[in-house]
Amino acid sequence: MSDLHVVILAAGKGTRMKSARPKVLHHVAGRPMIDYVIRGAQSLSPKTVTVVVGHMKELLRQGLHEHPELSFVAQEPQLGTGHALLQTAGLLEQQTGVVLLLSGDVPLLRRHTLAELVRAHEQSGAAASVLTALVGQPYGYGRVVRVKGTISRIVEERDASPAQRTIKEINSGVYVFSLAPLFDALRGLATKNAQGEYYLTDLISTYRRRKLGVEAVFLEDSNEIRGINGRSELAEASRIVRQKKNEELMAAGVTIEDPATTYIDADVVVGADTVIHPGVHLEGRTQIGRACEIHAGVRIINSVLDDRVTVQNFCVIAGSRLGAGATVGPFVHIRPETELRESVHIGNFVELKKSVIGKGSKAGHLSYLGDAVIGEGVNVGAGTITCNYDGGRKSQTIIEDGVFVGSDSQLVAPVTIGKGAYIGSGTTVRENVPAGSLAVSAGKQRNIDGWVDKKKVKK
Ligand code: UD1
Ligand code: CA
Repeated sequence: MSDLHVVILAAGKGTRMKSARPKVLHHVAGRPMIDYVIRGAQSLSPKTVTVVVGHMKELLRQGLHEHPELSFVAQEPQLGTGHALLQTAGLLEQQTGVVLLLSGDVPLLRRHTLAELVRAHEQSGAAASVLTALVGQPYGYGRVVRVKGTISRIVEERDASPAQRTIKEINSGVYVFSLAPLFDALRGLATKNAQGEYYLTDLISTYRRRKLGVEAVFLEDSNEIRGINGRSELAEASRIVRQKKNEELMAAGVTIEDPATTYIDADVVVGADTVIHPGVHLEGRTQIGRACEIHAGVRIINSVLDDRVTVQNFCVIAGSRLGAGATVGPFVHIRPETELRESVHIGNFVELKKSVIGKGSKAGHLSYLGDAVIGEGVNVGAGTITCNYDGGRKSQTIIEDGVFVGSDSQLVAPVTIGKGAYIGSGTTVRENVPAGSLAVSAGKQRNIDGWVDKKKVKK
């Protein structure tokens, strides 16, 4: 195998997105579309990966800062796809081998397809290979013109004759070029077309004239080569990716009640026998164990759920870990850095933040627990609030094993409640409570006899 170099074109304006953000950073099923292209490229272990940037190039480079392996080349002004590839001459002209050319806005290509394209190119000995497919709606794509069955040129939509517009075999915008003749041919491109641009697609006819071999490699599944130019294509690509993800999970033993309304990002892991109800979003690096049940309207972001966790309707869980057998919800908000150990129960309208809740502990109703470390077997009564913020800094509340916190208590941090202590209802805890003691802060109750009747008389 000769050396493989990948070039990803991403300098274009992306006019049809009507966006202040670079087109290729828009998300497809939870990830920037160019991420898919980069991952596809990397699966082939190329010698180099170069991204051609131009329009909004600083924003784009920022968006790709997690990829130190990429080289960037600027194209200014943007004079077309042929001109874009020419900008890599400084990096690639002295190299040998082949270039796999990808577009930042064609994210759905499978690794297998890319590997096959490169393999077919090497095997045929052609100077250029172009990936093509048949599509029902070819509008907007370059059409593949064949003469006696062999590809002779590609015509763009705007330059095509009415007869050529009826051709349904289209250019995917993905190619393999042998490096040797490439840059000389690119320098020879002209701009005699409707857009006045240097079209990469014109290399095909140039090569034909120069008697250099050109192959069209045909792809069966035309969904893979969908290019994203506007928002509705963006939504459609997301739908395809999500559908595939849902199919994979169902094949692996996950029940998804309504795949059409279930949004699971590509990297999410879900164990067998887990049941997912309609309208659930599982995002980022979320991992769900086996035999969990996620009810309708739940959103889980970058979190880990161990086995047999139940999440009732309408919860938001972010950056947290829920231990085996935990039950959560309905209407619970678990904010980052929270850990629920085994069999914890968190119920109606409870908000948690940066807290650890020990095995078997419960907070069933209407609480805020932030910066808290709670032991095992603790019962947090309805309406309990950790007052973790004094206007300047955040402080910790420690509740040791077996504590009972009565309803409507405030725990003013920093404060520690010792093992097995009992907090009477409505207590404002401002000082540490020793293990095994009862804390009450309310004054003694007074009942005023006949008060109601006297009030009525006055009137
Ligand atoms: C291009 C192809 C078309 C093909 C289609 C597949 C050409 C002339 N046409 O059309 O045959 O069917 O892709 O999706 O190549 N870009 C640059 N610099 C430029 C212009 C574009 O880097 O000066 C980049 C864009 O950012 C994009 C890619 O090249 O990532 C394709 O450009 P785009 O304008 O989307 O081309 P299409 O009209 O889709
Ligand atoms: Ca495009």
